[in-house]
Amino acid sequence: TEIKLFCPATIANLSCGFDVLGLCLDNAGDEMIVRKVDQKGVRITKIIGADLPLETEKNVAGVAALAMLATLEVDCGFEIEIYKHIKAGSGIGSSAASAAGAVFGINELLGKPYSRKDLVQFAMQGEKLASGNAHADNVAPALLGGFTLVRSYHPLDIIRIDSPEELFATVVHPQIELKTSDARSVLKQTVSLKSAIMQWGNVGGLIAGLYTKDYDLIGRSLHDEIVEPLRSVLIPGFDLIKQTALENGALGSGISGSGPSIFALSRGKNTADQIAKAMSDVYEKMNLPYEIHVSKIN
Ligand code: HSE
Repeated sequence: TEIKLFCPATIANLSCGFDVLGLCLDNAGDEMIVRKVDQKGVRITKIIGADLPLETEKNVAGVAALAMLATLEVDCGFEIEIYKHIKAGSGIGSSAASAAGAVFGINELLGKPYSRKDLVQFAMQGEKLASGNAHADNVAPALLGGFTLVRSYHPLDIIRIDSPEELFATVVHPQIELKTSDARSVLKQTVSLKSAIMQWGNVGGLIAGLYTKDYDLIGRSLHDEIVEPLRSVLIPGFDLIKQTALENGALGSGISGSGPSIFALSRGKNTADQIAKAMSDVYEKMNLPYEIHVSKIN
């Protein structure tokens, strides 16, 4: 028995929600085949599209799977084939897609001993291997879909957030690799009370805007006082791309996860497409290779 999966790309942080907010894209992601076999243990048998370790303990999918299986008594094993489309270090949850896919696939093949929310804690172990930090803001939306909030890490409390029908994301990836661990090393360990007040005001505003379908409020809340100023300097053309998105009707724009991808949210597909075109023009002019996705959020 085997299962073939689509492992979605995700946008973490959403400007104001560093390490707590994330959303799931519907048409960008990897594929994975998870197979139940007699021989115990977890083996990564194939990786196409990326140069990643096959060794289970060094692979994010392998580590997530092992964390899950350590909590269960099973007399079978699993083989995993990974077909990567999301580039490593792109900022749209490449490691999260693999970690989430592995635990989701195994859970299905075992008759669902765990809920999707339960699976987040195991997938986080893959993130820990990838970035040195077990953040859940990519794996949670990859597993649950839509918008998610990590209300708390200790204890882990994941909340799925409703979002309005017409919300679309445009994500552009300038083709450089930015390791999450490097993008985390530029951050300060303390924030001022003034910045914190702005940030939690915006997090509350964003959540309220999503529930009340208040697109204007969503846009006003997409600001980041704390992380974006420190990371944006690592991303070529960031200010111009963000400004271009806003000029073309984006509700808001910012760094996707730890970058270098840049996202914009907008109301309706036409606006999202227009933003994609305008962002493309910017990178064309800069002669910088890029990849772009327009996706509904679900
Ligand atoms: N919240 C994480 C960070 C997401 O910004 O470092 C990494 O994709």
